[in-house]
Amino acid sequence: MDFKNKVALITGSATGIGKEVAILLAKYNCNLILNYNTSLNEAINLKKELENKYQIKIILVKADITNESEIKKMVETSILAFGKIDILINNAGIAIDTTFEDKTKANFLKILDTNLVGPFLLSKYVGKYMLENKYGKIVNVASTNGIDTNYVESLDYDASKAGLISLTKNLACYYAPYINVNAVAPGWVDTPMNKELDKSFIEKENKKILLNRFASPEEIAKVIVFLASDEASYINSEIIRVDGGYNNG
Ligand code: NAI
Repeated sequence: MDFKNKVALITGSATGIGKEVAILLAKYNCNLILNYNTSLNEAINLKKELENKYQIKIILVKADITNESEIKKMVETSILAFGKIDILINNAGIAIDTTFEDKTKANFLKILDTNLVGPFLLSKYVGKYMLENKYGKIVNVASTNGIDTNYVESLDYDASKAGLISLTKNLACYYAPYINVNAVAPGWVDTPMNKELDKSFIEKENKKILLNRFASPEEIAKVIVFLASDEASYINSEIIRVDGGYNNG
C-alpha cells in the first residue's frame, strides 16, 4: 500500500487504535494530522518517533471533538498546512460504563457528543474539502456494540455506536460518488479504554471469542488503513466487523 502525497487526519491519535493507525499510515508514507485532546506527551512522543523514521510531514493539533469551534479551527489549520485532507479517521471515542441506575443524562449526552456528533461535525467540515478535490476516504471507528447489545452497563455507548453506523451509511449516500465512507466495528481490543476491566471478566469474555483473546490495536488499525486506501476503492457504505468471531450464544 502506498499513501505518498496523501494527507490523513486521525482523531484521538495519541493512544490505542488511533496511535497504531498513525504508525501504519506513516509506514506507508502518508502525511499526518495527529489530533489529541488530553494526551499531549504521548502525541509529542509519537510525532517525534514517526518523524525520525519516515520522510513525511506531521502536524499535531489539539482539539476537543465535542467542541465545534475547535473542530473548525483544526480543519482550517490542517488546510493551511497541507492544502487538502484526503483521509479522515473518526477514531476518538469514550465509554462511561455504569449500572443502569447510575446512568445520567449528562454522561449520555457526553458520549453522544464525542462518539456521534463529533464524527458528524468532522465529516461535515473535512468533507467540504474532499468534495472540492472529488476524492476522500472517511473511516469511522464504530463497535460491535453498535450492532449487538450485550451489556446494559454500556447502553449509552452502544446507542452512540449504532448512531455512528447509521451516520456512516447516510454520509456514504450524501458524498457519493466522490467519498467512500465506511466503518470498522471492533469487538474487544486491548487498549487503554479497557484498562479498568477485571481479570475474571476478561477471561469470561475470552471464552466467547473464537480466537480466545482480545484484538491488539494493530489488528484493528490494519483494517482501518485498508479501508482508507485505494485498495478498498469499491468498498463503500460498509461496516466491517473485526471481533475474532464473537459468539455470545
Ligand atoms: P483509547 O481510550 O486509547 O482511545 C481513545 C482516544 O480518543 C484517546 O486518545 C482519547 O484521549 C481520545 N478522545 C476522547 N475524547 C476525545 C475528545 N473529546 N476529543 C479528542 N480526542 C478525544 O481507546 P481505543 O480503544 O483506542 O479507542 C479508539 C476507538 O475505538 C474509540 O472510538 C472506541 O470506542 C473504539 N472501540 C474500542 C474498542 C475496545 O475494546 N478498546 C472496541 C470497539 C471500538
